[in-house]
Order: sequence, then structure tokens, then C-alpha cells
Amino acid sequence: ARPLRIGLIGAGTVGGGVYEIIMNRLGGGGGSSSSNTTAGQSSSSPSNNHHRSANLHPVITKICVRDASKPRTFHIDPTHTQIVTDVASIINDTDIDLVVEVAGGTTFAKDAVYASLKMGKSVVTANKALIAENLDELIGLIHDVNTKNGVKFGYEASVCGGIPIIHTLSGGCYKGDIINEIMGICNGTTNYMLGKMEEGVDYNEVLKEAQALGFAEADPTADVEGHDVRAKISILAKLSFGTTVPVHTIPCMGITNVSVIDFAYAKSMGCTIKLIGTATRKSQFGEHDGALSVYVSPKLVPNDHPLASATGCGNAVVVNSANLGTALYTGPGAGRYPTANSIVADIMRVADSTCPSAPFPLSSSIEIDNDYESAFY
Ligand code: NDP
Ligand code: HSE
Repeated sequence: ARPLRIGLIGAGTVGGGVYEIIMNRLGGGGGSSSSNTTAGQSSSSPSNNHHRSANLHPVITKICVRDASKPRTFHIDPTHTQIVTDVASIINDTDIDLVVEVAGGTTFAKDAVYASLKMGKSVVTANKALIAENLDELIGLIHDVNTKNGVKFGYEASVCGGIPIIHTLSGGCYKGDIINEIMGICNGTTNYMLGKMEEGVDYNEVLKEAQALGFAEADPTADVEGHDVRAKISILAKLSFGTTVPVHTIPCMGITNVSVIDFAYAKSMGCTIKLIGTATRKSQFGEHDGALSVYVSPKLVPNDHPLASATGCGNAVVVNSANLGTALYTGPGAGRYPTANSIVADIMRVADSTCPSAPFPLSSSIEIDNDYESAFY
């Protein structure tokens, strides 16, 4: 059978991981026999692939970058993959079935994602900023292209990197339940920074470390000002409550005002400090049936609270629901392979037709009440 042909837009931290997993570990560069591995590829043993049928092997045929001459941290096999700087050569390539967008940003990436969908290509992206800023418009476009061409859209990597939280919320795990609140640590950079600051390391020094480790956004303002968490909590709110909460209406405070001394006060109260995104239905008489309040802020978290367990670039999400009660989802929230793993899972779901046709819930009647007072004071 014909392999699924992929155009990869972006070959940085995440794109490099996607390329390595698809082409080396899953044998995309060597076909189903994995006997043609080329220089720089690790041989992918059949036992690694035992749960995949031969016709599901995806292959990355083109990579689009800004600078084709830039040295890469991974080997690109020229016999299978062409490097381009003109994104139209991916979008207009009728041989490409699926586009993976891991360039980031909301202008170039938005144009590329929209054009790819309109050209009848499925799209997998890690770009939470793009999704959150255009949620309703994007949902409408996905619906149209899915109806016309069966096009699919995967975005597991966009929230909490390697934790399959999108699949958990959209894949039916809470179908017979009612979510009252979802809150979490959704940014690896700031969680890493806060952990180091708690040990006494200076803010600027630790921000540089997080950048060097590949956790931070190209412009880390989005991380430290809380905008990245704001985008992610708006996506989680959509999946949990059906309501679209426009990102710019979400009260948001980042970690730029947190200093090493704050951890001493937190410690004296048996707490640590975490940057938390919260989406909660206000409760009246014990019932969470009120309006939806969404906000982002640093919080004192008791050391024995489930969210305190996320260390390093780890993320953690707590979901409170009527039937299940409190459930904790935790794991790596950023970095090359955890994020790439979520992208690859989406690619494999497109390949074997298990990717959902409607990846977001329909709208809901739950109203929004995002007041700064209850968020911060
Ligand atoms: P990087 O900055 O490491 O890589 C971005 C890549 O995109 C580079 O290869 C760059 O090309 C390419 N690119 C950017 N703009 C253009 C353009 N206009 N034309 C062509 N190519 C372009 O980013 P990351 O891999 O860290 O992140 C990518 C996406 O994944 C972002 O949306 C981010 O939010 C998301 N994400 C990142 C995670 C992480 O841990 N890093 C985790 C979860 C999501 P060149 O190399 O030539 O400059
Ligand atoms: N900059 C983001 C973070 C990448 O640190 O969590 C993962 O979305």
C-alpha cells in the first residue's frame, strides 16, 4: 500500500524529533522491511513495529525551513526527503497527504495550516497559540474540509506536550460525566524555572537554561507572561465545557514578578509556587452549575497537593468531575521527544483512520464570567 506522505513545516526542537521518530524509529526512511536504513539512521527492528501493519508507514518527503543551510541536530536523508524554503511547494504538492506544522507563531503558520486544509490535506500541529486565537474559525474550517474531503486535524501536542490530555478529553473518557473544573501546570518552561528558583537560582540564569533545553517558545515572553498557559487553558476549557473562551478575555498573570524570596514565604506555609491555568464552573449551594471562569496565575500550592508533584519541565492536569471525582494526568510537558511522540500519535491516527472527524466539541450554553477580582484577589 502507498505510504502516508508527509510535509513537515519546521525542523527545530519538535520537528527534529518528529523526523527522527518517523524516519528512523518507525522505519519511514527504510520502508516496512526496515532493511534500507541509511547513514545516521538507527535501524528500526521489526519488533519495534510489531503493532503496526506495513501499509501504515508514514514517510516525510519534504521539510520546509527558513534557512536551508543551517546545520541541523538530526540527519535528514536526501534520498527520501527534500529540504525546501518555499512552503507552497508542500501545500501545492498533490503527493503530500498530511502536513505537520511545527514552525510556531500565528501568521506564517496560520496561513500554512489554513491553506493545507483547504488543499484537502490533513494537518497535525503543536501550535496552541494558533489554535486558541482562531478557535471558532478553525473549527468551522475543519468541519467544512472534513465534510468535503475527509480531512483530519490532530493537535495532541499543543497542550501539555507528551501528556495525552487532548485524547483523554476529546476521545470520550468523560462522555457520561460532567466536568466541574480543570486546572493544571501546562507550561514546562515556567515549571522548570520555578523549580530552580526554589533552589535559589536566579530568574535570568534559569530562563536561559530552559531556552537551551528547548522548552521555551522562540520568544519566551509567551512562557513567562503566562500567554502560553492562557492559550492552553482556553483549549482545555473548550474540550471540557464546550464553551469558546476568547484568549484575550482570560485574566492572565505570569511569573515575571515571582522572586526567590517568595519561595521562602511559600515554604513557611508548607507550599510551593506553581503557574496554574484554571477553568472552573462557579458553584452555588455546592453545585458547579454556574458560569465558567478561566484564568492564569501563579499560586501557592500545598506540598501534598497533586499539582506539587510536577517537577522539572513536567506538566500536570487535575480534572474534577461529577462521577470520577478528582483525576490527575501528569508527564513531560515540553521537549523534543515527548512532544514529537504526541505528534506522531496523531499522524498514526490519521494513517489508520482513527483520528476523529470532529476534534472539538460543539458549542455549549455555559456562560463565561472571567472577572479579574476572583482570579487574583
Ligand atoms: P523551533 O524554534 O525550535 O523551530 C521552529 C522551526 O520552524 C525551525 O526549523 C524554523 O526554521 C521553522 N520556521 C519558523 N518560521 C518559519 C518560516 N516562516 N518559514 C519556514 N520555516 C520556518 O520551535 P519548536 O520546535 O520549539 O516549536 C515548534 C512549535 O511547537 C511551536 O508552535 C511551539 O509552541 C510548539 N511546541 C513546542 C514544544 C517544545 O517543547 N519546544 C512543546 C509543545 C509545543 P529554521 O530552523 O530554518 O530557523
Ligand atoms: N514553551 C512551551 C512550554 C512548550 O514550555 O511548555 C510546550 O508547549
